[in-house]
Amino acid sequence: MVTSMKKKFDFIANWKMQFNFDEEMQFAASHYDNLIKLKQTTESKIILCPSFLSIYPLSKIFDKTNIEVGAQDCSKHNRGSFTGQVSAKSLSFAGANYCIIGHSETRKEYNESDSDIAQKFAQLISYRISPILCIGENEEEFKENKVIGRLTQQLEKIFNQINSTLKVSSYLDVYIAYEPTWSIGTGNVSSVDHLDTIFSWLYKQTQKIQDHINWKLLYGGSVDSKNIGDFKKIEHLNGFLLGKSSLNFDEFKKIIE
Ligand code: PGA
Repeated sequence: MVTSMKKKFDFIANWKMQFNFDEEMQFAASHYDNLIKLKQTTESKIILCPSFLSIYPLSKIFDKTNIEVGAQDCSKHNRGSFTGQVSAKSLSFAGANYCIIGHSETRKEYNESDSDIAQKFAQLISYRISPILCIGENEEEFKENKVIGRLTQQLEKIFNQINSTLKVSSYLDVYIAYEPTWSIGTGNVSSVDHLDTIFSWLYKQTQKIQDHINWKLLYGGSVDSKNIGDFKKIEHLNGFLLGKSSLNFDEFKKIIE
């Protein structure tokens, strides 16, 4: 007998700096019961990535629930004279089990290189925080058919260190979020055909590297309740990184359901 199992996806809310501290607390308080119910009924993983300040209080509020908390960035350093930075170790103590790195907005704002991001990746692995590594091409690269080349470049240092120095002692989820920069916050989305090609390629790349890593592939960029249905059909996709549509609980709920 053939049984059809519904695929489960992970939903990661990247709140960026769209809420103030009080609004983040308010979101958690007013949607606490609904978030837990949503998690239970859909059995999807729900990870909220607020600003640094809200990580600790949110992880306390959602303690003993299945709603998880992540950060939006971390320092590439372990400790030292790095004014304004937050270490992976601090994030771990504050209750973040996940951390976005290499988002196109931080790459641009802080002029981050792929080797900076590889160092952040290593920091996260050493404190057993699941990295959510963002990669993606810009519009010009997309138009010139240079997507795979760009992604290869962005993954190279990470894969090299996993194959050489980096030790992942026991199984850890590691996310790769493919987010074309021309799609983030613009309402322009990739075609399902394009995404099928990219995710099949990404899947093959990650399967070559297993070393205690449970790879999960995400798509991000203008995902909403109207286009999510098409994306959910993509074979190797495990979830979504949501910006704008994670700020409105009703929209967020529709997407997850
Ligand atoms: P968006 O953002 O959903 O608002 O396009 C996604 C992201 O930047 O992670």
